[in-house]
Amino acid sequence: MITGKYPNLRLRRSRKYAWSRKLVQESSLSYSDLILPIFLIEGKNKKESIKSMPNVFRYSVDKLSIVIGKAIKKGIPMVALFPYTSPTKKDEKGSEALNPDNLVCRGINFIKKKFKNKIGIMCDVALDPYTSHGHDGLLKKNNILNDKTVEILTKQAVLQAKMGCDVIAPSDMMDGRIGKIRSALDKNNLNEVQILSYAVKFSSSFYGPFRDAVGSKKLLKGDKKTYQMDFRNSDESLREVAIDIKEGADMVMVKPGMPYLDIIKKVKDNFKIPVFAYQVSGEYSLIMNGINKKLIDKSSIKESLISFKRAGANGIVTYFADQIDL
Ligand code: PBG
Repeated sequence: MITGKYPNLRLRRSRKYAWSRKLVQESSLSYSDLILPIFLIEGKNKKESIKSMPNVFRYSVDKLSIVIGKAIKKGIPMVALFPYTSPTKKDEKGSEALNPDNLVCRGINFIKKKFKNKIGIMCDVALDPYTSHGHDGLLKKNNILNDKTVEILTKQAVLQAKMGCDVIAPSDMMDGRIGKIRSALDKNNLNEVQILSYAVKFSSSFYGPFRDAVGSKKLLKGDKKTYQMDFRNSDESLREVAIDIKEGADMVMVKPGMPYLDIIKKVKDNFKIPVFAYQVSGEYSLIMNGINKKLIDKSSIKESLISFKRAGANGIVTYFADQIDL
């Protein structure tokens, strides 16, 4: 591996000039690597700030023209929609998830009508933005019901796909949901709709600001440890991914991002499939607060994003997508 030794060999030689560093760089970052998450809120002409996520906003559907227009101009290939559901619309079963007139459905309609297929739309499949207890599934006596939840998720996925969602992204971590969703999509003539499975999703403290953004934080009863993965585990992620590929996932996600670069690499090395990283809300806010307090430089954003590419990710879901200059 090592082909010489000092003083003949000097690795600093290739680092001397910018052009030379560029020539030998092993990874790169462009807008085509990024997926932009967007929070939606009811109302008109609204751009509402989110306390726990500086510089990230909740937009009313009519405001999407500007946000999406900018994303397309930059060359961002896809956005991910997340709703802030009004507390009055939340219930035990997350019924609003199946309302064809809910925020996400109206968001999809709006974007597709205005921008056609100039940008992809990805939607979470999970019940947490809609349930009164903040869990991703049905709650019965402190237990999240798996199969009953999957039945609802399947309907949620078909609804979103019928509205025009291009990429269905189940983030709920129920067992067997990818297979059920794939066959339901196919049965409904939606065989061209892709599935990006949040196959490896850890039960993490880094989701805090997101839960605030979708309004589930105060509602959440207990934690999500009975369905999301234990962060002590690594091999288990390979089992999750293998199962999801078999069930029909086109792409997989590892989430959170930076504390799990080892998992991204492991998944990519073991399965040569598209792997995405989610740089989650807590990671975003940590970096953003560090920048705002002048503890770290703005270039830390690019460094954090490149780390995902170096680890083997094909792309990154990041709240920085529309903020950085590349
Ligand atoms: C919900 C969902 C979560 C995130 C994306 N989809 C939170 C959770 O599982 O509690 C987190 C994203 C982020 O923190 O940025 N299923």
